[in-house]
Amino acid sequence: MNILEIIAKKRDNRELTNDEIKFFVDNYTNGNITDYQAAALIMAIYINGMNYQEITNFTLAMANSGEVLNLSELGTVVDKHSTGGIGDKITLILMPIIASLGIPAAKMSGRGLGFTGGTIDKLESIPGYNTNIKIDDFINNVKNIGISLMGQTLNLAPADKKIYALRDTISCVESIPLIASSIMSKKIAAGAEKIVLEVTVGSGAFMKNIEDARKLSETMISIGNLAGKETICILTNMNEPIGYSIGNSLEVMEAIDALNGNMNEDVKEIILSLGSYMMKLAGKGDNIDENRNKILENIENKKALNKFKELVKNQGGDVSYIDDTSKFEKSKYIIPVISELSGYVKAMDNENIGYISSRLGAGRINKEDNINSRVGIIINKKVGDEVKAGDILGYIHSDEYDIGIKSVQELRMCYEFSDEYIEKPKHILGIIK
Ligand code: URA
Repeated sequence: MNILEIIAKKRDNRELTNDEIKFFVDNYTNGNITDYQAAALIMAIYINGMNYQEITNFTLAMANSGEVLNLSELGTVVDKHSTGGIGDKITLILMPIIASLGIPAAKMSGRGLGFTGGTIDKLESIPGYNTNIKIDDFINNVKNIGISLMGQTLNLAPADKKIYALRDTISCVESIPLIASSIMSKKIAAGAEKIVLEVTVGSGAFMKNIEDARKLSETMISIGNLAGKETICILTNMNEPIGYSIGNSLEVMEAIDALNGNMNEDVKEIILSLGSYMMKLAGKGDNIDENRNKILENIENKKALNKFKELVKNQGGDVSYIDDTSKFEKSKYIIPVISELSGYVKAMDNENIGYISSRLGAGRINKEDNINSRVGIIINKKVGDEVKAGDILGYIHSDEYDIGIKSVQELRMCYEFSDEYIEKPKHILGIIK
């Protein structure tokens, strides 16, 4: 077997065997296959696709290319993952809720490139919180208090890292088989037994329309099934930011607010949908309505908030910030964005809102960039809201005056208004099992 035959086979739209797929993944990861040969094969996959069996074999080969975490001693671990959103603080709210319901909450999260930092960057805006703990401590934390959230210190799915970086340089990111296998390889390597995926749809997401989101979901579910990992996908609207904040410490503050019972309607719907299905997969209740009520109960009685505090304390964080969020350091400038127009918000350019927050310093462009945990955007008005000229659409939190002022103008441009009444959008667009 050699790489030229494999490239030719996929170029001619023929099915690759498991051995051929493993040969490519292993030899590309260890440097025996060049970037230009890998690029040719990836482009052929991009153009001709793969069937479910090929995608599953590709996923498992990438999952097994590095360390694979074994969490079986913790019981049924249900992982959650989002395909990406603007203002995505769902993990910070959901995992303590799950833990408060007696389901092991063991999650490794990334830092991530993009509009804001990843969950790990957000957690690190809590002074003292240690995301860089040993695997043994991670597992012991879950045994002792039911929850641990840490950074990705293991060498999980290195093949995916290399192939993803290559895809980025050859315009091959937007491919359903490649995205599905990339996501699922990391979930499998991270030790999940069951998986709930939030598949985001809209201008701030990889999937711009519902048909593609369905296809991606069906692909990931079939990989999950073939790999013995039950998987459910929940499609969510990403045509506006999630909740009311974008930025690292701003999102932590919103998460604390949510755990105190003050949730934006979209955050609440996403939490209840993902959470109730995570409970079902964990064997904690087949009745979704009852599961939703149990989640609401644990928010109301503060069990979920207390679990979050326990998590923070256990990983060295200063819990006084959770009790009093005004302690979080503010950016130098907090500038209101005043609407010049009246009407109903018809649409928001969510992707651009993401770019604005990234330029403010909330996200990274390169892996080695530092993020600024203080900066970001607070959103006051979302799709369907009525606005009068002079109302505040939101606030820009910036450490630099010029960038702050420019961002104010840019955020204003992200709003589209209508004179006619606009209905509030649905937040959950579908559930695929
Ligand atoms: N997220 C991933 O992890 N991989 C992709 O290919 C796209 C989004």
